[in-house]
Amino acid sequence: MSGAVSGAVSGEAAGNGLLIEGASAVATLAGGLRRGAAQRDAAVLSGGALCVAAWDGRILAVGSQADVYRQIEAAGHTLDSFERLDARGGSVTPGLVDAHTHLLFAGTREAEWQMRARGAGYLEILAAGGGILSTVAATRAASDDELLEGARARLAQMLANGTTSAEAKSGYALDVAGELRLLSLADRLGREGPIELVPTFLGAHAVPAEFRGRARPDGPDRTDAYVAHVIGEQLPAVARQGIARSCDVFCENGVFDAEQSRRILEAAARTGLALRLHADELSPSGGAELAAELGCLSADHLAAPSDEGVAALARSAEAGRPVVATLLPATSWFLGKHHFAPARRFVDAGIPVALASDLNPGTSPTLSLPLVMSIACVEMGLTPAEALAGVTMNAAWALGLGSEIGSIEPGKQADLVVWDVPTVEQLPYWLGASLVRSVVKRGQLVFERG
Ligand code: NIG
Ligand code: FE
Repeated sequence: MSGAVSGAVSGEAAGNGLLIEGASAVATLAGGLRRGAAQRDAAVLSGGALCVAAWDGRILAVGSQADVYRQIEAAGHTLDSFERLDARGGSVTPGLVDAHTHLLFAGTREAEWQMRARGAGYLEILAAGGGILSTVAATRAASDDELLEGARARLAQMLANGTTSAEAKSGYALDVAGELRLLSLADRLGREGPIELVPTFLGAHAVPAEFRGRARPDGPDRTDAYVAHVIGEQLPAVARQGIARSCDVFCENGVFDAEQSRRILEAAARTGLALRLHADELSPSGGAELAAELGCLSADHLAAPSDEGVAALARSAEAGRPVVATLLPATSWFLGKHHFAPARRFVDAGIPVALASDLNPGTSPTLSLPLVMSIACVEMGLTPAEALAGVTMNAAWALGLGSEIGSIEPGKQADLVVWDVPTVEQLPYWLGASLVRSVVKRGQLVFERG
């Protein structure tokens, strides 16, 4: 992919340091999870000639040139052991974190997208065996190499748009061997880098075709039969494999209802997995309430939560057990919903808000978090700073990685983006633009725009 930089920063003599110099602004996002009025505080340093120093893959110092030089010296290093990266005229943010992606899939669904434009419903297409199930068929039929090649091309574009860490869900195989395969491919891609991947098990994404024929008047409901399979067969295998860090369910009336979702998540919690949930995407389905009750890391979508669900998330945040509301505005937009998650209401209720791409071939074929930020600002009324917190600190928290990534603070992983704009307000303002100048992952320059 053009613009990618292979390998490490040039020159062994440069030692293990990287010094970003001359930035007009640095949004540090220092200070932990953002919620309420604090969601608007991106902890921006401004005034020009700002520097960020990294050593051995970790942030060493951030601030004015004089301050950073002093701290480099105090740490016992010399300036000539730092590779220099010019940020003049630009701004620096933490590497962006995409906390909700369906990265691994085969095939595309532009025909279904056009059917929706002519009035077909998303769940109607799924009920007829299309939608998610058409991607399941294509994914099952694809070789490892085909899946890897597709995902690598997507990851290259995500990197070029500033993403340095991402979640990667399974959920397009829906059988034991296939779900394990997707998780192991996610693990492999994450090890390849430079984007770090956090694998999530999503066996309960849809009821696969082979379970759909099983409904008998006297037998168990076909969805219940599949839920039993997820709990009895898939989850134990996923736990033995040891790759997935969390478990997700598509909790939606007509897919997996709140009771079925609860059974799966409670079983997942017993295996030690963290929990997350596709919650109330299309109709109030008890997802927000369930996420709050079970202490999920995040409740995602939330375009149609009930009042009680919002209240439950607010109470969790107030009680110091925040569930991040991970909102996916590109999905609502691409579905043509003209209806978005009530982001302002969440912020006002003190619920921490993250934004993610929901990258998938059905409802959100986007690879750009800056575009997601733009949609969130226009359609949900978030400020650019609130949106930035949503794709950095709060997204890191939604992945359970809030102490490692998501902000520019000494000791944290040195994941950084230099943008070709002098203020962070301009990131979502230049709609659909490619503004990334350089990307740094764990202190290494991994992308430069050619
Ligand atoms: O988050 N809503 C459920 N899952 C995905 C869509 C997956 C698909 O349509 O392939 C989502 O939007
Ligand atoms: Fe999703």
